[in-house]
Amino acid sequence: MTEIRMRVNGVVHSLDVEPWVSLLDALRERLGLTGPKKGCDQGACGACTVLADGVRINACLALAVQYADKEITTIEGLAQGGELHPVQQAFIRHDGFQCGYCTSGQICSAVAMLAEHAAGMPSVVSGSAARAELTDAEIRERMSGNLCRCGAYNGILDAIREVAT
Ligand code: FES
Repeated sequence: MTEIRMRVNGVVHSLDVEPWVSLLDALRERLGLTGPKKGCDQGACGACTVLADGVRINACLALAVQYADKEITTIEGLAQGGELHPVQQAFIRHDGFQCGYCTSGQICSAVAMLAEHAAGMPSVVSGSAARAELTDAEIRERMSGNLCRCGAYNGILDAIREVAT
């Protein structure tokens, strides 16, 4: 067992974890934060996406002990002051989900992607070093790590496009 201190959604927690415990299991089973979902448990679906210092990661592939000093944000931490995050509100307006299992990962990923864009990330579609235009193709490519088995992609795209513009 290793004792780690982890700041999650603004609250510092002290946790005893075995070195092999994933960040996803630590969040869900030790801290009761069940927003991040376990889909594939091998880095393929994105359902477990959370933010570590603002960067999106697959929590199923991360060991909790590696993230002891990071600021972790889950879907539970996005709403502020009783208001849903603008991306959460847009997903509701545009029906960006059906069963909802992928939704927390989709939204965390979209929040990070919009921050990447605001920071001037180059296009992943054109390969140009210039700041990317957030076209539908660019959004799709940047969100391609988050799968939706229900096929709610049009609503997801509409929601992200609305917040981006
Ligand atoms: Fe982590 Fe699928 S559960 S990527």
